[in-house]
Amino acid sequence: MRAAVFENGKLEVVEGIDVRGPRADEITVRITAAGLCHSDLSVVNGTIPFPGPAVLGHEGAGVVEEAGAAVTRVKAGDHVCLTTINHCGVCPACSQGRPTMCRATFGKMSRPFTRVGAGGATEKVASFANASVFTERVVVKEVQAVPIPADVPMTSAALIGCGVLTGVGAVLNRAKVGIGETVVVIGVGGIGLNAIQGARIARAGRIVAVDTNPRKEDVARRFGATDFVDPSGDDVVALVKELLPNGADYVFECVGHPALIRAATDMLGWSGTAVLLGVPRADAEASFLVSGMYMDKTIMGCRYGTSHPQFDVTRYVELYRRGGLLLDELVTKTYPLEHIHEAIHDLESGSLARGVLLL
Ligand SMILES: NC(=O)c1ccc[n+]([C@@H]2O[C@H](COP(=O)([O-])OP(=O)(O)OC[C@H]3O[C@@H](n4cnc5c(N)ncnc54)[C@H](O)[C@@H]3O)[C@@H](O)[C@H]2O)c1
Ligand SMILES: [Zn+2]
Ligand SMILES: [Zn+2]
Repeated sequence: MRAAVFENGKLEVVEGIDVRGPRADEITVRITAAGLCHSDLSVVNGTIPFPGPAVLGHEGAGVVEEAGAAVTRVKAGDHVCLTTINHCGVCPACSQGRPTMCRATFGKMSRPFTRVGAGGATEKVASFANASVFTERVVVKEVQAVPIPADVPMTSAALIGCGVLTGVGAVLNRAKVGIGETVVVIGVGGIGLNAIQGARIARAGRIVAVDTNPRKEDVARRFGATDFVDPSGDDVVALVKELLPNGADYVFECVGHPALIRAATDMLGWSGTAVLLGVPRADAEASFLVSGMYMDKTIMGCRYGTSHPQFDVTRYVELYRRGGLLLDELVTKTYPLEHIHEAIHDLESGSLARGVLLL
């Protein structure tokens, strides 16, 4: 089958990739749509170190094709949204209801794909983020699949698997923004737009979107921003403080730049919280003014929106069906898998909320 494979610093769509069958607690899913997240680009450009060969993509939806012997919650034919969290269900973190902190979900390399190498020998190909949805068929743990109604478009459902879970979850689960509190979102990409709509859903007060690309203003306001700041060439902290003179209750950094992490802490009001969602290079360091933190301020990291995938995907889909969560509006453009480089170009040039690959 076809797959977008990362190897030696390059991403290429190739034929001839196979995937093994499901084990007892696994399912095979025929992928129909997959979102392109900046984290996939960060693997290709080395910001996120990951050894190849690996099939990229970690935000997808599809139809269950085959279920392992112990699978009980989904069956062949079900439409599912995939998540990257293959949590064990029994460890201390899982027992506390914190699946994204389950050690089974991070740092373990699985190699469910194979290809025929140059010498004719079969070689293993790794999975990325337990998902690898830039291909036609994947094998994942049953717990990673959340059933969705068949009338939800796959192109929209696919985006829940990272962008929505991460952005909306950061607001609702990690920061727990309250009614009327002020929010700044730096970076209006797929993650930032979902932080903005999470703030709208939480009924935040003023929601200030910040992006150096002025073309992001309309979509930011569509998702719930009350204000838009383009800081190009100016002091972003001063511009935000013109709107929020006492500083913000919450700032979500959704770009992954140390200078913006510093700016996020400088924008905080008393008892404010900076939430770091962007992923800079693995060795990046950021500074902050220690005395500035004295007034009960907090800096927090956030993995995958501190999500409870089975609960969150289900409630987000329900909210979408009632018009309270925007998904279709996130899909700026669709591309056949073969055109992934065009999608990457469009993401980098700032013309997308999300680009979606069709398998
Ligand atoms: N924490 C997590 O679990 C998690 C999950 C997914 C993605 N991420 C990370 O979140 C980040 C955003 O991902 P995305 O898919 O939304 O990316 P994206 O490319 O869609 O969006 C990034 C946005 O930032 C804007 N931007 C760039 N430089 C800026 C600056 N100096 N000031 C203001 N805005 C600026 C761009 O114009 C763009 O709109 C990436 O670093 C990604 O790796 C983190
Ligand atoms: Zn992602
Ligand atoms: Zn666990």
